[in-house]
Amino acid sequence: SGYWVVVPAAGVGKRMGADRPKQYLPLLGRPLLSLTLSNILTWPGLSGIVVALSADDVHFPHLPEAKHPLVHPITGGAERADSVLAALNFLATHASEDTPVLVHDAARPCVALDDISALLSEDVSPIALLAQPASDTVKLSGVEQGCAVVEKTLDRNRIWLAQTPQRAPLGLLHSCLRRGLEQHAAITDESSALELFGHSPQLVPGRRDNIKVTHPADIVLAETILRLRYAPTEE
Ligand code: CTP
Ligand code: MG
Repeated sequence: SGYWVVVPAAGVGKRMGADRPKQYLPLLGRPLLSLTLSNILTWPGLSGIVVALSADDVHFPHLPEAKHPLVHPITGGAERADSVLAALNFLATHASEDTPVLVHDAARPCVALDDISALLSEDVSPIALLAQPASDTVKLSGVEQGCAVVEKTLDRNRIWLAQTPQRAPLGLLHSCLRRGLEQHAAITDESSALELFGHSPQLVPGRRDNIKVTHPADIVLAETILRLRYAPTEE
């Protein structure tokens, strides 16, 4: 019983363009990563959290969660997948191969407990991810005379936007990620590593407000989502 959570938090936040990595920007007066970790620490059945940090991170030790006994910081890598692999290398010495692992972006502080319950449900595959059915029509592009043009329109009823957490058993995720990176495959989430080796993760519909804080406007949006959730009667 129990599961581990891996939190990739070693990015630089290029698109945010702030004076420090976005995971340390204040949201409702608290560092974003502190909100994400304290949220995860409320999930029932949690065995521990492995947080992947940049080698030159100077901010993490100042978070209140840094000294929590269930929080284990490790050094991440150049890409998100390298950071997750580093966390799984650590976890492989602390948990058995069949241990469920949930990988959750540091940049998604707004994930709600009902989504976590849905992902952990007995009725859901052990290989699964939260995702949102697309509401926009999605175009696949080609190039003509140096301009992006529509090559075709994808069937919107089959388009899902991947969120996190994404779950898989430790041993399976570890080997798929390691082998995928060895092949220099483009691995942007855990599902894509599993897909490379023939697995078909289950899509679990998630809430729209599980946003990834990416651009400056997302800070205000995330603050609004959290404020409405925890103080719905606030004026
Ligand atoms: N991440 C990581 N290691 C990396 C790159 C990203 O652990 N080498 C983490 C980020 O810290 C973030 C999550 O992966 O929590 C999702 O990545 P993204 O939103 O792209 O964050 P950044 O890479 O920091 O942002 P940007 O792409 O704008 O630089
Ligand atoms: Mg990135």
